Amino acid sequence: EQHFAEDGRLKGKRVLITAGATLERIDPVRYISNDSSGKMGYAIAEAAARMGADVTLVSGKVSVPVPPGVTLVQAESTLEMRDAVLSRMDDQDVIIKAAAVADYRPAEQYEHKLKKTEDEMTMRLVKNPDILQLVGERKTKQLVVGFAAETRDLEKFAMDKLQRKRCDLLVANDVTLEGAGFGTDTNIVRIFDASGLVEALPMLGKREVASRLLSLIADRLTKGDA
Ligand code: CTP
Ligand code: CA
Repeated sequence: EQHFAEDGRLKGKRVLITAGATLERIDPVRYISNDSSGKMGYAIAEAAARMGADVTLVSGKVSVPVPPGVTLVQAESTLEMRDAVLSRMDDQDVIIKAAAVADYRPAEQYEHKLKKTEDEMTMRLVKNPDILQLVGERKTKQLVVGFAAETRDLEKFAMDKLQRKRCDLLVANDVTLEGAGFGTDTNIVRIFDASGLVEALPMLGKREVASRLLSLIADRLTKGDA
């Protein structure tokens, strides 16, 4: 078994992590979703458990195995994920929202498989609730960490999301870069807080990104206790 310098640094802390893609049903066999693999969120959950935290992993659709020693809560749709997070947030110390949440869902869900009849069809979508924003509004002592995937103006959009959603930290990645974003084993992130850039990490394995992020979080929790 491997040992890491950070082992035990989150002992006694409760950490809730969301990961993967939410999935919005159209009919019993079809859905809208996205390319999130869950690798980043699952790597965070694994590292947090290794650092001694009590980890709750609220997971959408993923393509990676569940790490040992975490409590898994499955959530398919955004509405389910919202309920899973809000009902568990009050006794958490840290909430990390790595999930790729569907911004919109079909206005209607069909009970039966849709038949192809018309030559054209239009599907109406409605906006989903912003789970991170709800968490930001309701938080008391919790350290809240958001993610942002951007294709341009990274810093501007990251700072805007951090403020709007009242995050303590925001992890931003430019998904147009080779070696960053959906499905890859590596990531290139910049971490922001309310006063601006905290860390710009080089391309690293997602597990390494997870350890660095959690060690930053552990530092801030310790400062808060002092
Ligand atoms: N998020 C969320 N609920 C949503 C949408 C996003 O909790 N309905 C969270 C994500 O988990 C992530 C953060 O908000 O931590 C930023 O997600 P992102 O998609 O980058 O931002 P949006 O606010 O959805 O803005 P846009 O997609 O328009 O850039
Ligand atoms: Ca979005």
